[in-house]
Amino acid sequence: MTTNSNELTFLQQQAKIRHRIEEAITQQFAAEDEGLQYALTAARQAGLPQIQISPIQGKLLQLLATACNAHKILEIGSLGGYSGIWLARALPSNGRLITLEINPIHANLVRAAFAKAGVSDRAEVRVGKALDLLPHLESEAPFDLVFIDADKPPYPQYLEWALRLTRPGSIIVADNCVRSGKAFDQPEDEAMAGIVEYNKRIASDERLVSLLLAMDDDYTDGFAISVVKPLQKHRTM
Ligand code: SAH
Ligand code: DHB
Ligand code: MG
Repeated sequence: MTTNSNELTFLQQQAKIRHRIEEAITQQFAAEDEGLQYALTAARQAGLPQIQISPIQGKLLQLLATACNAHKILEIGSLGGYSGIWLARALPSNGRLITLEINPIHANLVRAAFAKAGVSDRAEVRVGKALDLLPHLESEAPFDLVFIDADKPPYPQYLEWALRLTRPGSIIVADNCVRSGKAFDQPEDEAMAGIVEYNKRIASDERLVSLLLAMDDDYTDGFAISVVKPLQKHRTM
């Protein structure tokens, strides 16, 4: 199928409209303050990849944290601390965010970003491979919210840990579960295999109510959101 110039104009207009909507929502509901902007600038200047979540995704994490009355949050994959700041700010003053990061250079940036954003009292980065660190978190469980956003091949294992470390009513969110629609095809590499398997599990796991949402800045990627079902008899879904 070819795209003629009328269609192209139409698609460009659609993209522009989506972009304007995204900007307006961001401005009205998810504006970044200096702390968040500092985290972005510091990460960019240090040469980190710019793969952090969008402001709207940050606000959605805060909304979900509030919905489950989060006091303890676990993040897997910190990068420069951008998503961690959004999460930490959804916590009460006695709350705790633990974020796991394999790269010590990233972890140092995260500490500085948390300090600048004023969340060092409640947010802590632990350095190491997530699958090595997760078994040590059992004594600190249950977490009210888990945000999975590290390397993609072990996403199914991260889900297993998330289920072990949460309670009924907790929320589990995973980033990058749409991947331009590749998440619905036969996986072509280990990363996509991890994501496809993750989606398959959350869609069918009886302990969870889940939904995949295409909701990043250009609608090509998004969050998989799962709620750990409250324990209740006579549940119909
Ligand atoms: N959540 C961040 C983005 C995370 S990018 C944000 O939105 O701001 C993914 C991060 O996961 C990178 O910093 C990378 O170093 C880290 N990572 C990759 N593999 C990991 C592993 N096995 N264990 C812990 N962290 C890992
Ligand atoms: C990549 C990783 C992410 O977590 C993300 O949000 C975007 C891209 C990546 O590894 O390419
Ligand atoms: Mg991501």
